[in-house]
Amino acid sequence: ILKSVILIGGPSKGTRFRPLSLDIPKPLFPVAGLPVIQHHIEACSKVDNLSEILIIGSYLASDLSQFIQEMISIYKITIRYLQEFTPLGTAGGLYHFRDQIRSGGPTYFFVMNGDVCADFSLQEIVEYHKEKQALLTIMATEATRQQSLNFGCMVLDKEGKVAHYVEKPSTFVSTLINCGIYLASLDIFQTMADAFYAGQSQENFMQFNGNSKNPAHISLEQDILMRLAGTGRLFALPVLKWWSQVKTAGSAIYANRHYLNLYKAKHPDRLASAVNGPCQIIGDIYIHPSATVHETAVLGPNVSIGPNAVIARGVRIRESIILANAHIQAHSIVLHSIVGKSSYVGEWARIEGTPCDPNPDKPFAKMENLPLFNTNGKLNPSITILGTSVRLAAEKIVLNSIVLPHKELTRNFKNEIIL
Ligand code: GDD
Ligand code: GTP
Repeated sequence: ILKSVILIGGPSKGTRFRPLSLDIPKPLFPVAGLPVIQHHIEACSKVDNLSEILIIGSYLASDLSQFIQEMISIYKITIRYLQEFTPLGTAGGLYHFRDQIRSGGPTYFFVMNGDVCADFSLQEIVEYHKEKQALLTIMATEATRQQSLNFGCMVLDKEGKVAHYVEKPSTFVSTLINCGIYLASLDIFQTMADAFYAGQSQENFMQFNGNSKNPAHISLEQDILMRLAGTGRLFALPVLKWWSQVKTAGSAIYANRHYLNLYKAKHPDRLASAVNGPCQIIGDIYIHPSATVHETAVLGPNVSIGPNAVIARGVRIRESIILANAHIQAHSIVLHSIVGKSSYVGEWARIEGTPCDPNPDKPFAKMENLPLFNTNGKLNPSITILGTSVRLAAEKIVLNSIVLPHKELTRNFKNEIIL
């Protein structure tokens, strides 16, 4: 049997995802109508003999309990949340909860970063891992030379063994990068134990300086992958299907488009029909069954409409996510934007952002996860985000702006953060 662990971090992570992560943990933010990690869970549910999914993070258990109950009832699989008392790093939680992972005697377990999205090739990884008799297999993909520096980079030999692994190198190592999806055999806990004891002796030393990390902190990348590179037991499987990180709000729009596209083959039932949909539909659109969409609205391409949202007469929306209970009043337009929960957009308003897609002219380019501000202290042009319960007056324009929750906007805004 197999298991899967999804690493979701905690409230101190996901800062680039604000203000969207202010009232919902980032792993639960809906992309193509489903919480980010529901896409992971769905991929796991399709793997043969996968018996249990463990979600490890430092969010309060109460923030996830309702979601987990829903997932259990949809996918009929055991799912449990294991809460870290403090962030333990990408492998510290795995090691801390090792007995939970080992119980029931799985042969292998997946480790999935909760902040990636992809056309996950989990079954292929299982076959590859078995064939190679690997200790750990990394799902890998290609990046550009320049962007590779933001990821874990590796060099493989002819058989797929990882000869070198460097996490976020400062100079170029390889364009083959770590996707944050792994399959491990149980012996990996021995490697973790070695890293743990090595960390502890270092910890005794560090205490004199007073700048100590938690002694149980283990980094999967620094302490495990770097250690295993060159030993012949660490493998990587290059996969060239769609893969991206979900770090910034802009990447949610990008992920939304790709997951909608995957529905065409895997879940056509989730897409609004262009023939007998509720309104004019262009391309791939998800509309929650409880949303109300006026027949004269035009949606698409690449739009998701959340539960109980109301889209009025003559509204035009494209490349955007409208969250639960939002109201878009008549004849307004929303482009490259995210409209927060329970927000209200008056008539004839315009909400527009700048797409931040990967450079289409560069093969294997990924999204640039730009910080909010550039080096001149100016806001980097990005998608427009209305936080929860924002009210935008009729006939106003909001362009490339980020609006924090509960704001009343009564004038036009351009390139601003509205605090
Ligand atoms: N439970 C738990 N505890 N999860 C954590 C912790 C922690 O202390 N720290 C990080 N995570 C989770 C995050 O929520 C995320 O899903 C994942 O682990 C990795 O997060 P980061 O530590 O921010 O790493 P990264 O995303 O910059 O880089 C990693 O992923 C890249 C691919 O997206 C590395 O593995 C890179 O090598 C890789 O290329
Ligand atoms: P391209 O399709 O890229 O050429 O863009 P465009 O010049 O049509 O305009 P834009 O990207 O700004 O708008 C996209 C869609 O929204 C188009 O179908 C427009 O007709 C429509 N649109 C533009 N502005 C408004 C508006 O203020 N209100 C409404 N209801 N629709 C609008």
